[in-house]
Amino acid sequence: MGNDSNTNPSSDDARETPNRIRIFFALVPEEAVRLQFLALARDVARRSRGRAISGEHVHLTLAFLGDVPVSSIVELRAIGDRLPPTGAPLDFDTLGAWRASGVAWAAPSVVPDVLVDLHASLHSALTGAGFAMESRPFRPHVTLARRCVQPHPRAASAPIHWAVRRLCLIGSELRPDGPRHTTIAEWGLTF
Ligand code: 2AM
Repeated sequence: MGNDSNTNPSSDDARETPNRIRIFFALVPEEAVRLQFLALARDVARRSRGRAISGEHVHLTLAFLGDVPVSSIVELRAIGDRLPPTGAPLDFDTLGAWRASGVAWAAPSVVPDVLVDLHASLHSALTGAGFAMESRPFRPHVTLARRCVQPHPRAASAPIHWAVRRLCLIGSELRPDGPRHTTIAEWGLTF
């Protein structure tokens, strides 16, 4: 008695098992663009009565792996090393929300082939290496706010111009006050 780890084995294993890590690949903007997304996130969260993302969380997810053994990081780094290091300019000119999940996002109305190819190359390398991946269609977006009570309809917005030049492998530690992200590896992209 009195030992929670014995009496409650079904609690969040990811947090209690140090040899696993919740991990994803994402594009991450430079500081000036990050701040533009944050300002937009605060505005959208206020208008849709949601919670703006925290300052460190501005990213565009390319591949979400979930919990993997920490030992997989070596292979994930090698996969990142082999990707075509090509970025692209993106204009985030559309705001929208997924009502079911209460997530408000910004997205580019035009997605360059380079980004579609980068996503496809990454997914094919990950599945080829045996990582389990969701097969959802790629809908590139930056999450701005969560738990939106009054998500607003899809609409054009003043564009945020993001010259995508950085791909990161990010660890996400789930904490009571929200996820904490740590950059594990990063790659420069050029165009
Ligand atoms: P997002 O890209 O829409 O913001 C870390 O959890 C990141 O991976 C989040 O930014 C999240 O959503 C993205 N992600 C994609 N698929 C996910 C899933 N099945 N579970 C949790 N997060 C997921």
